[in-house]
Amino acid sequence: MWTAAEIPGQESRNVIVTGANTGIGYETALALYAAGANVMLACRDQRKAEQALAKMQQSSGSGSGSGSLEIGVLDLADLSSVRLFAETYIQQHEQLDLLINNAGVGTPPAGKSRQGWEYTFGVNFLGPFALTGRLYPLLEATPGSRVVTVSSFAYARGVIDFDNLKSEKGYDAVREYSQNKLADLMFSIELDRRVRAQGHQVVSIAAQPGANSTEITRHSTEEQVAAMKDRFGGFMDPWQGALPSLYAAVSSEATAGNLYEPHENGFKGYPVKGEIQEVALDETVAKKLWTMAEEATGVVYPA
Ligand SMILES: NC(=O)c1ccc[n+]([C@@H]2O[C@H](COP(=O)([O-])OP(=O)(O)OC[C@H]3O[C@@H](n4cnc5c(N)ncnc54)[C@H](OP(=O)(O)O)[C@@H]3O)[C@@H](O)[C@H]2O)c1
Repeated sequence: MWTAAEIPGQESRNVIVTGANTGIGYETALALYAAGANVMLACRDQRKAEQALAKMQQSSGSGSGSGSLEIGVLDLADLSSVRLFAETYIQQHEQLDLLINNAGVGTPPAGKSRQGWEYTFGVNFLGPFALTGRLYPLLEATPGSRVVTVSSFAYARGVIDFDNLKSEKGYDAVREYSQNKLADLMFSIELDRRVRAQGHQVVSIAAQPGANSTEITRHSTEEQVAAMKDRFGGFMDPWQGALPSLYAAVSSEATAGNLYEPHENGFKGYPVKGEIQEVALDETVAKKLWTMAEEATGVVYPA
């Protein structure tokens, strides 16, 4: 049973956690900060980020063992915000040890990203794709760096429908979420393939947190949340849902190209290596998705 108590000292390590103001991202950032890391809280809302930072400082105590915290504004629904965030980070930091692509949206009403993609596809996939690519030179220049991308057990029901990425066929929130989370997992695996093909050293690992009580259900009805709780036998608290991300981020047992998830059917428990379903291992789809994302974002990597 692996817990946050096993996180090795993270002193002098630079970390970015996206969506760190609440839920799993908050707990992920807090645990790394408490272990001594310099953590960038990459959030779309400055005020929420400031509140989270203050809460983390209080939780962790004002001293021994904790690293440092900073805030950067990042809206994954807008590729120009992603670009500005990454450029600023690179100007201000000499290394990046860990990028945790955690931020995500669940099932909001239909919408479009700033560049016109289906909103959740923009936030959950294209934004993190572009962010990782823009930060890639700094990651590759930092020995032992890792990229952790947070997927969901929902990926197993996903299909990448290349003809519907701008809601051409209408919007179905659950279908889009499954598609995005499949795209995240395929991205993580394909990044690993490409890194190795280049002989680079960045390690790409996926995590999925299981079923947790967070704001991801903010657009769901009470009945929908109750039905989910029934299905999973309740929700975990987000500190526990953060463990797969943390394990992928720091454990020497976590290896590139794999997925880490809670041990009870991927829904609850403590992190273990998950068995990746066939749908996420389709290299033809993964390569098509990568090419599509490069064209959509204008970010081409690894190079
Ligand atoms: N909770 C679960 O049971 C569960 C299950 C499977 C997978 N996951 C995955 O776990 C990750 C974390 O989710 P969570 O459960 O912690 O959800 P959450 O409590 O809703 O937190 C999501 C975070 O993402 C941020 N975010 C949303 N849209 C953004 C944007 N456009 N730009 C930048 N940040 C944005 C949110 O910021 P705001 O607060 O400003 O909106 C928030 O910080 C997600 O990738 C999710 O898909 C969660």
